[in-house]
Amino acid sequence: MVKPKNAREALARLAHYIKQQRLLLGLVFAATLVISTVAVIAPRLVGQAIDPVIATGDFAALGRLIVILAGLYGLNSAASWVQQTCMTVVSNRTTRQLRHDLFAKIQQLPLPYFDGAAQGDLMSRLANDVDTVGLATGQPTAQLFSSSLSIVGILAMMLSLNVKMTLVVLSMVPVTLFVALNVAGWSRRHFRRRQEALGELNGYIEELVGGIRVVKAFTREDDVRASFARRNRALRDTAYRSELVTGMFMPITHLIDNLGFTVVALAGGLMAARGSISVGMAATFIIYSRQFMQPVKEISNQWNTVQSGLSGAERVFEIMDSPSEEDAEAAAAISLPAAANGAAATAGRLAGHVVFDHVTFGYIPDTPVLKDVSFEALPGQTVAIVGATGSGKTTLISLLARFYPVQSGRILIDGVDIAHATLKSVRGSLGIVLQDSHLFSDTVRENIRFGRLDATDAEIEHAARLAHADPFIRRMAKGYDSQLTADGRNLSQGQRQLLSIARAILADPAILVLDEATSNVDTQTEVAIQAAMLQLMKGRTSIVIAHRLSTIQGADKIIVIDDGRIIETGTHRELLAAGGHYAAIYESQLISSDSEAS
Ligand SMILES: Nc1ncnc2c1ncn2[C@@H]1O[C@H](COP(=O)(O)OP(=O)(O)O)[C@@H](O)[C@H]1O
Ligand SMILES: [Mg+2]
Repeated sequence: MVKPKNAREALARLAHYIKQQRLLLGLVFAATLVISTVAVIAPRLVGQAIDPVIATGDFAALGRLIVILAGLYGLNSAASWVQQTCMTVVSNRTTRQLRHDLFAKIQQLPLPYFDGAAQGDLMSRLANDVDTVGLATGQPTAQLFSSSLSIVGILAMMLSLNVKMTLVVLSMVPVTLFVALNVAGWSRRHFRRRQEALGELNGYIEELVGGIRVVKAFTREDDVRASFARRNRALRDTAYRSELVTGMFMPITHLIDNLGFTVVALAGGLMAARGSISVGMAATFIIYSRQFMQPVKEISNQWNTVQSGLSGAERVFEIMDSPSEEDAEAAAAISLPAAANGAAATAGRLAGHVVFDHVTFGYIPDTPVLKDVSFEALPGQTVAIVGATGSGKTTLISLLARFYPVQSGRILIDGVDIAHATLKSVRGSLGIVLQDSHLFSDTVRENIRFGRLDATDAEIEHAARLAHADPFIRRMAKGYDSQLTADGRNLSQGQRQLLSIARAILADPAILVLDEATSNVDTQTEVAIQAAMLQLMKGRTSIVIAHRLSTIQGADKIIVIDDGRIIETGTHRELLAAGGHYAAIYESQLISSDSEAS
């Protein structure tokens, strides 16, 4: 079983969430009191009515009792209904709030939380753990509460009536607890294995359906089917076992119940026959034994649910407590001047002066990906970055956007260390076309509008024209209102790239960053975009990562990086003249384009 590390603290924080529904909780409390009170006094009333009937044959009292009991049990049912309904509302409101807060927090988490396995963990906390908390805060909590109250009440009542009979009833508690805890634990273990097998199978289905093209392309259908069958069999086996065990639970519980009932009835009967207690008292205890065991069983059943709920809550709070991006900022964070949108605003506009000052960074400490990188992009300059795959180009851009903090050195925008500037202003000053840009399942128009939410339709279409996306958008069935499927799967890679360029153009940033933005479009389109880009780069700083050197020949400065280190800097002409690394790459690309042409 998953136990919370610090149940008290998790409980306290969860209480803070639940506390917001004081009125409903008050109702639950009142209902619980009614339920427990009925559980305590009803058996006593039965006993009190039986004795006069035996002694005097007064059946009228019995009739009155039946009416009273019917009333009491009716009240009990009504209270149960109120308790359940209120708790359901409380639990659903709590999980909604918890989910809301967790999602808001996730949006503020720094990027390392979204790398690889960490992302799966986040998803599971958002989906499963919040659910576990929801399951635990509902009925189980209310039941735990009313059961405890009933146990105390009934125990006190029994002790005040007859100590010997109370001991007989209590003698059955260990047996009941043993069975409830063990059989329930056993069945829960099997149930969890079944859930795991189901999760495994679902994960496999998701992965393989997503990767169906690769499977088909390599004709791996048979292998995939075989390994699916293996997981499917495992699920069948665990499901079978868990059903078997669960199926045994009820019969065993009933057996123990009836055994206990028999023991108490026997003891009560004997004592009544000997005259040490009245028949009514014996009846009272027989009923008490039932009503006492019920909450005992319920507590042992709900205990685990509540425990896993608490440990789920702990995992949720863990995320909520982790520092968000903004937390890292000094209170005196500087806000960079707003990047002016549209040509109108010029005063106080960001100049776009970018400086990397001895920057060293690694995703994992001690394995640097960028080593002592220093360069400068003056306002309005175009700086191109060239280097082999994996040399650290994308990482450079991630640092500029402050997706990750630098380990040593500084990055300055207009003389301000971005580590001391607000995230909003840093990212607001950049227009980034990422290497793998994401599109949302929305219309083409809204996807471009993501660059600047207050853009008009005309501005959106203008940006699309500049990005050379307009022709293909118009060819789509509904033009700008065409719906994109998740991540723009119904577009070609090049088309997706053009849309994200349009998005960046629309944002009209002081600093434009293009990460291999044109590597997925054909040479002709690339040339066209190139012209548009030149127009676009005018008056703003641009940092361009390009695969094809032909696209960056006009750059003011070309930086060649290799294994995270800057090895050459200069203009196209200077670097060619130097005859180093850049010249070698340029030569090889010339040769390959020559052979393409021939
Ligand atoms: N999120 C990440 N976590 C860990 N390592 C990463 C991550 N992103 C990139 N890397 C590593 O950093 C190095 C540089 O990657 P990257 O900057 O993407 O190269 P480029 O864009 O030049 O192809 C590579 O060795 C890559 O494996
Ligand atoms: Mg890259």
